[in-house]
Amino acid sequence: MDTPTIFVNPKSGSIKISGEVNVVDVDGNVVETKENPKICGCGLSKDKPWCDSSHGEYVKIVANHLRNARTLVKASPLFGTTPVRAREIRENELKFRIESGETLVGVKLGGALDSKRKDENMGVNIFGYLTDAMQCIEKLNVSQFIHPRAEAEIVFKTSKEISSEIHPSEILDYVSHVAAGMEIFDYRYGEVRAYSEDAIADNAGAAAFSYGAWVLAHRENLEVLTAEVFVNDEIVETAPLTAIKGNPWLAIVELSKVLVATGVKLPAGSIVFSGSATNGVHMVAGNTYRVEIANLGKVEIKAN
Ligand code: FES
Repeated sequence: MDTPTIFVNPKSGSIKISGEVNVVDVDGNVVETKENPKICGCGLSKDKPWCDSSHGEYVKIVANHLRNARTLVKASPLFGTTPVRAREIRENELKFRIESGETLVGVKLGGALDSKRKDENMGVNIFGYLTDAMQCIEKLNVSQFIHPRAEAEIVFKTSKEISSEIHPSEILDYVSHVAAGMEIFDYRYGEVRAYSEDAIADNAGAAAFSYGAWVLAHRENLEVLTAEVFVNDEIVETAPLTAIKGNPWLAIVELSKVLVATGVKLPAGSIVFSGSATNGVHMVAGNTYRVEIANLGKVEIKAN
């Protein structure tokens, strides 16, 4: 008898077993024999454990579910989606936003747990899209988000399309300006830690952002600067900018790799949030949050 094989379809998530398979009950009695059965791995089948092709609607269903989580401010369960589907869900959300009249202005670089590594603390780089509607100036209604947190980041303004991997020696060819930034993220799964696939589907938790005045990039020696986060003028987080990839400029290099790997081109004039230098600070209505980076500037948001 041939050794059975199992094929997990990376796009649909279905699991196909080759050959004849006996389905047994709790006592081991054969209740059915199936030839080349396909098992549902996406979780949407109405005929579980068998695949009934409901996976065709998967991207639309999960994207809608995540959108509703944001609209209703109610955490969604994890979907345990596949990498291919995760990227399709992220693109679906961007398409929806563009069709709703929003404009893509840039991306955020983020980190997520890597489900392929045994060490849960090992992360991978992911990115999320930023649109003009996510920008907040001076104030933000935090009741519209799920456990929102503020982080201190560097923001880059790109001067050239990013469509290939950038070598560290080329970074200033791609960046014209830098600014102090505050990224507000909220995972639509609530406080649950998501593996990279679900985090990608969630657009890397991108919720809102704000940044200060631009300064010319070539003037700044970011490696020696420190970021501070204040709540109501009291300092609550401080970290050197080297907490970002060991050298904040390298965020541009890392981003170029992730974009190239997923076939996404980022146009010149985009903004890029670097990934956080500090821990995220939970935001509560009534407080004022400020990020300061000496020599670079500051950005302040009143939460209401
Ligand atoms: S994988 Fe086909 S319905 Fe779930």
